[in-house]
Amino acid sequence: MMVMMMVSLSASQILLLLSSTLVVLVVVTGQVKDTSFSRDDFPSNFVFGAGSAAYQIEGAVAEDGRTPSIWDKFTHEGHMPDHSTADIACDGYHKYKEDVKIMSDIGLEAYRFSISWTRLLPYGRGAINQKGLEYYNRLIDELVTHGIEPHVTIYHIDHPQILEDEYGGWLSPRMIDDFTAFADVCFREFGDRVSHWTTINEPNIMCLGSYDSGQFPPRQCSPPGGTFNCAAGNSSIEPYIAMHNILLAHASVVAIYREKYQAKQKGLIGINVYAFWCTPLTNSSADVAATQRATDFYTGWVVNPLVFGDYPKIMKKNAGSRIPSFTKRQSELLKGSFDFIGLNHYFVAYIKDNSRNSSKSGPGDFKSDMNVKLSVTNEEMPPGPFLPSFIPYNPSSMQNLLEYFRDYYGNPPIYIHENGFGTPYNETLNDISRIHYVNGYIESMLDAIRSGSNTRGYFLWSFLDVFELLSGYVKRYGLVHVNFEDKDLKREPKLSAQWYSNFLKKNAKLNTQNLDIQLSHSH
Ligand SMILES: *[C@@H]1O[C@H](CO)[C@@H](O)[C@H](O)[C@H]1NC(C)=O
Ligand SMILES: *[C@@H]1O[C@H](CO)[C@@H](O)[C@H](O)[C@H]1NC(C)=O
Ligand SMILES: *[C@@H]1O[C@H](CO)[C@@H](O)[C@H](O)[C@H]1NC(C)=O
Ligand SMILES: *[C@@H]1O[C@H](CO)[C@@H](O)[C@H](O)[C@H]1NC(C)=O
Repeated sequence: MMVMMMVSLSASQILLLLSSTLVVLVVVTGQVKDTSFSRDDFPSNFVFGAGSAAYQIEGAVAEDGRTPSIWDKFTHEGHMPDHSTADIACDGYHKYKEDVKIMSDIGLEAYRFSISWTRLLPYGRGAINQKGLEYYNRLIDELVTHGIEPHVTIYHIDHPQILEDEYGGWLSPRMIDDFTAFADVCFREFGDRVSHWTTINEPNIMCLGSYDSGQFPPRQCSPPGGTFNCAAGNSSIEPYIAMHNILLAHASVVAIYREKYQAKQKGLIGINVYAFWCTPLTNSSADVAATQRATDFYTGWVVNPLVFGDYPKIMKKNAGSRIPSFTKRQSELLKGSFDFIGLNHYFVAYIKDNSRNSSKSGPGDFKSDMNVKLSVTNEEMPPGPFLPSFIPYNPSSMQNLLEYFRDYYGNPPIYIHENGFGTPYNETLNDISRIHYVNGYIESMLDAIRSGSNTRGYFLWSFLDVFELLSGYVKRYGLVHVNFEDKDLKREPKLSAQWYSNFLKKNAKLNTQNLDIQLSHSH
């Protein structure tokens, strides 16, 4: 979803969830192990790709009629940890042809990107911006011409500031109609060439970041949730209200896609969910119960309404009247409102029960309703600041997560729409640690497929090093390096790009022996 460093993103997400301000460094050490699988071991219709998002890659934020999204306001107010903005980012708006050529050279079979709402509809609704329309038409045509399948995220957390100012964005049910109208334009204009749509990226992370901790725009929070000095907000209720409107907006968009477009355009539609794999810190019954609770709160909050038509029971119990209810009709509209689920998965979360230590004063918030402590290692974190020095390499979380979806949610079709590894800003092109990480997670995904998981695609986050929503330019997640100090923003494929390419094109086994360590700099 975000920053140059996806693992940093994940790390930052932990920070976000725990209201900490410390930076987590991910360290992966050791050799890239030999593996015994190849591209041929995956089903023939399985796709491998990489991803980005509009605000994170495009730049050109004030060009050709685009107006500010909530992220433009937020970054211009200096709220990023590195005080950065994405005014230029990778300049993908101008460099899309070069970028698609690089994708094609690597051999990507699919590319995930998002549409900037304010580039297409600068006033949030109504008149289409022709220049914006032309840009996405050209990008999609370029992908299709190169045989790359477009996976389009309609909304990647970047709605028009004008709608935020008018009625408070996702806190208002008015967003449902405006979002549906925006999606309708996307289907009508681009749907003849788009095979896979997702409505909304990571609503769970967005609702917590935007309305509980206040770490994301529009920066709304209050005690006990927020620690980000918000001017307004109510962490006790707003995350739940925003999610409610988001889920109804999702269902509304899926309904119009199915009614008006799907039979003719033959695409598929889903949603993107951020998914930890939660596992108990100890085998105590309290920690085992806390783990199911954490899974219900983080993942079930989004997925249960889509599969079962309602929030998890434990959420309704613990949040009480602070979590809105679905009417019977809404529940029916939600149930089954997806053709696939897009999962953004980075790492395991070790869960410890915290329910015996909750102070029951005040109305509480998502975190106190969930009442767990979360660690990224199998050791309990010391109290106070959350300070892991690294996130362990633990790829079996992928298989565990996919098997949970197989068993708990009736084995829906899944796309891993994000998985990746963040490295420091000053990384070299020799990104062995990224290869090591991705190799392990792909292998774990294959194990899940062999045990019956209906997983159909894998997308590395990210294609290029991009502006990361949580950390700006502090970390890099790309297969392709971007020199942000060069006025041309020169792109250079990293070793991981060559490794991925070998896997995709030559059907090579995924291991370092197959790498030509001399990187081609021909791009
Ligand atoms: C948040 O809303 C709840 C429920 O309406 C209310 O009890 C509480 O006082 C509000 N908190 C703040 C900080 O406004
Ligand atoms: C919990 O029990 C299982 C099965 O006995 C065991 O494999 C696992 O290591 C235990 N986990 C912990 C954290 O003790
Ligand atoms: C309860 O939380 C406080 C503050 O985080 C901590 O100091 C204390 O050790 C906790 N007690 C238990 C029983 O976990
Ligand atoms: C990157 O910066 C870190 C911290 O300053 C330093 O320890 C590391 O050696 C640098 N790496 C490279 C490749 O320059």
